[in-house]
Amino acid sequence: MKIAIGSDHGGYALKELIYKHLVDQEYEVTDFGTHEEESCDYPVYAQKVAEAVAAGKYQRGILLCGTGIGISIAANKVPGIRCALVSDCYSARSTRQHNDSNVLALGGRVIGPELALELVKVWLETSFDGGRHQRRVDLITQLEATYGRQ
Ligand code: RB5
Repeated sequence: MKIAIGSDHGGYALKELIYKHLVDQEYEVTDFGTHEEESCDYPVYAQKVAEAVAAGKYQRGILLCGTGIGISIAANKVPGIRCALVSDCYSARSTRQHNDSNVLALGGRVIGPELALELVKVWLETSFDGGRHQRRVDLITQLEATYGRQ
């Protein structure tokens, strides 16, 4: 599984930790930045990761900002992206089973490192349930077509 990861300055420290952890776990991970703690704009990194996932170059993406909110909002503007902001294991598991989320968003100023690594593990290891959930994901895709590029 190829994973794209990115953050702004608010998620930088946690992004670095998650990146190193995934590399240690022998996942194939590409770090799309930011590569420093200096203030920067989260939509830039949301776009880089979301476009790479939507293009099929990466199977999953992980995004972080201070709260995880801004970067998840931005990522969800890219057609084909289902980005889920989570801070508990139940939601991390459910969003894979029910939403087939392809990008995980985390808040670097909200959750601690141990919880973050657990959320990433659960999210990466959980499969989509399909069935009635596929119909609902298809309806999301229809919404993109309705309100997407004009
Ligand atoms: C940056 O200060 C902060 O606004 C950003 O990291 C994020 O929390 C936005 O949603």
